[in-house]
Amino acid sequence: MKLANQVYLSEIDHKFLAQLKAIDHACLGDFWSLEAYQKEIDSPNSCVLGLINKKQQLLGFGCLWAILEEAHITILAVRPEYQGQGFGKIIVWGLLQKARDRQLEWATLEVRESNHIAIALYKNFGFEEIGRRAKYYEITREDALILWRKGLHTKEFGTALTSWQQPIADGLLAKGWSLDFSGFASSQTKD
Ligand SMILES: CC(C)(COP(=O)(O)OP(=O)(O)OC[C@H]1O[C@@H](n2cnc3c(N)ncnc32)[C@H](O)[C@@H]1OP(=O)(O)O)[C@@H](O)C(=O)NCCC(=O)NCCS
Repeated sequence: MKLANQVYLSEIDHKFLAQLKAIDHACLGDFWSLEAYQKEIDSPNSCVLGLINKKQQLLGFGCLWAILEEAHITILAVRPEYQGQGFGKIIVWGLLQKARDRQLEWATLEVRESNHIAIALYKNFGFEEIGRRAKYYEITREDALILWRKGLHTKEFGTALTSWQQPIADGLLAKGWSLDFSGFASSQTKD
């Protein structure tokens, strides 16, 4: 396996800022500024989780805010040339694991109603639609769906997360990516 084909999940630091911004620009049309990403990385209430290869290239990332018992997933993006290979799935899996590590109880997010790929991805993890925000997006005036996943703190969810890990890794391997979980600290083994 070539080094570049090994990937791992990690909370990311300032050295990835330029890559974060480049992915944001390519995937989200400049959703957040460089300074905003800087703040996210520094905030104890945020988690910026990256999928990185051994050449230190950031392939995708997701962010969450911990607000009371809630994990608010604010951003999810995979470099366009790497989409459709399971990277989004492993990043969401990692964010949910991080939310659980923080003892958060549910996860929520807003997504464009036309973003069928993201909606399907989140529904794979048991997210349900609980409402919508009319004309939420400024330029297109498109509605946002509010998705919700309850029970992150339950034993059942811990078991589900563990059971999803191997199939996701196998799916990546089938696409030529070897996922290294060794540095991904979590409380998943406590149950
Ligand atoms: C949304 C996004 C992060 C998904 O990442 P990805 O790496 O392409 O997704 P994955 O390959 O992990 O696919 C995960 C799931 O998404 C769905 N999906 C992926 N590609 C799809 C396609 N072309 N059509 C329909 N569903 C698709 C499937 O449910 C898939 O699961 P499956 O393979 O078990 O069927 C990526 O498309 C992206 O960065 N989009 C631009 C930014 C964005 O829209 N972010 C979300 C904001 S909420």
